[in-house]
Amino acid sequence: MRHLIGGFLFCILAVKTFANAPTIHLPIYRRGGRFARHELANITALTRTISQVEERYSRTYTDVDRNRIVRRWHDGLIYRDRHMLDEAGLQGLWYTKLQVGEPRQTLEIDLDMLSPDFYTIMTTSGQGLKYDTFSSNTHEDFNDFPHAICRSSSDLFYFSDLISDMNSVRLAFPICQAPKCSRHTLAASGSILGLSPLGLGSLSRLESSSFIQQLLNQQKIQYNLFSLTILDSASGVLSFGGTIAAEVEETKIRQEIGLKYIDQPDSQAKEEEVNGALRFAIPPSSTHERHFKWTDVSNGAAAGWHMTLVTGVRVAGVKILKNQPVLLDINCPFILAPPVAAARLYESISGARRLVTLLDQPHEAWYEATRFWSFPCLSAIDISFEIAGWQYPVVSGERLREDDIHGPAGGRFSLGKVDVGTNSGTGYCVGLIVETAMGLRKEWQGSDMRDIWVLGEPFFRGLGIAFDLGDEKGKGSRIGLRTY
Ligand SMILES: *[C@@H]1O[C@H](CO)[C@@H](O)[C@H](O)[C@H]1NC(C)=O
Repeated sequence: MRHLIGGFLFCILAVKTFANAPTIHLPIYRRGGRFARHELANITALTRTISQVEERYSRTYTDVDRNRIVRRWHDGLIYRDRHMLDEAGLQGLWYTKLQVGEPRQTLEIDLDMLSPDFYTIMTTSGQGLKYDTFSSNTHEDFNDFPHAICRSSSDLFYFSDLISDMNSVRLAFPICQAPKCSRHTLAASGSILGLSPLGLGSLSRLESSSFIQQLLNQQKIQYNLFSLTILDSASGVLSFGGTIAAEVEETKIRQEIGLKYIDQPDSQAKEEEVNGALRFAIPPSSTHERHFKWTDVSNGAAAGWHMTLVTGVRVAGVKILKNQPVLLDINCPFILAPPVAAARLYESISGARRLVTLLDQPHEAWYEATRFWSFPCLSAIDISFEIAGWQYPVVSGERLREDDIHGPAGGRFSLGKVDVGTNSGTGYCVGLIVETAMGLRKEWQGSDMRDIWVLGEPFFRGLGIAFDLGDEKGKGSRIGLRTY
């Protein structure tokens, strides 16, 4: 029944019968809309996107701090911390919208799962969406610098989920500006909401609290937790202090049962059946604790990012790989796999072959095609990942109607049909698990990304994923999953 929930974002946000603990729900969107469309796969464009995504993982290296492996930024030179200013407003990033200031302005805030920092970028380029401090009566500016290029500032932010204080909360929101004459004055204005863990190994660059830490300190939320739920390929919900599991289940159940009672929409029997199904899906007395299956953030991996261990990768029910370390990042539109693991996986899918074997040598895409695999578009792909003893389907399961209309041929596992440069068509589709070159080239030295998978947006679809950030030191951090 998953096709029923797609597109019901605002309906879900409106249903809040279970909200006893405060949880802040924000809608999220993918800038530029869905990634894989109903078109032939463009290998040149896909290769470019993979490189851009991979580059984000090359900016840190791993180090040892008090017997723990931690992740640190490469850029020692703070003035040249170019990535702080480069990122805002890029196509393909997931973002939320926040209401700020008086009179209220709506800012697009890009999500960043690789850093915990919350800040806004101001440039003079005229590009992007700029936070207008001059017109906000509630904006406050301070004369201190949490970073060499950022000064402290704060304003009122509005959340409809907050009951008291006119729905507002004052949050520190540093303003970062490019040094004059640097090429960054040409970058876009925008804002970043970092979601990576704090504590030892934190990748914070600002001496300023993260977004979630500020909400916690002001007791606006109860738990050091956020969760991500993608509803369709371009929208979803980001929740702070809790999850949206209860609301998603309730919407789903109401619609399923509503179909049965289509002639008698107000019947008592329908309400009873809805409540019964809900009590089963979401035990009412418990919080997120029992609504998700939890796994510790991987001990072996470097602290700083959301990483864990996939204990088994299965193709058609057969376990083909064990103990694969993974990084979760919604801003990656692929699943990136180390070459050996990718080969193993595709060799277990009948009919799958390397994309290069389908292309004629002279074709210009040939050189770029080496990291892609293809599969017969009509074959049913069944891949699941085992995490903490539970199986999560990666690309199988029901299709959304929206996918049929706008999505690529070959279904959820496809990046599009293979284009061989003629009009004949091949019946093969490009698989969304692609080989990553991370760790093999020089810029990844020390990044420790060599054997790591990146589970991007395709993994998030159909799942609720909760990130418990543990205590202030990051101890006890966990990742929770459930299927919808
Ligand atoms: C494929 O993508 C490249 C780079 O974005 C673009 O220049 C090219 O025109 C695209 N080709 C097709 C057939 O759309």
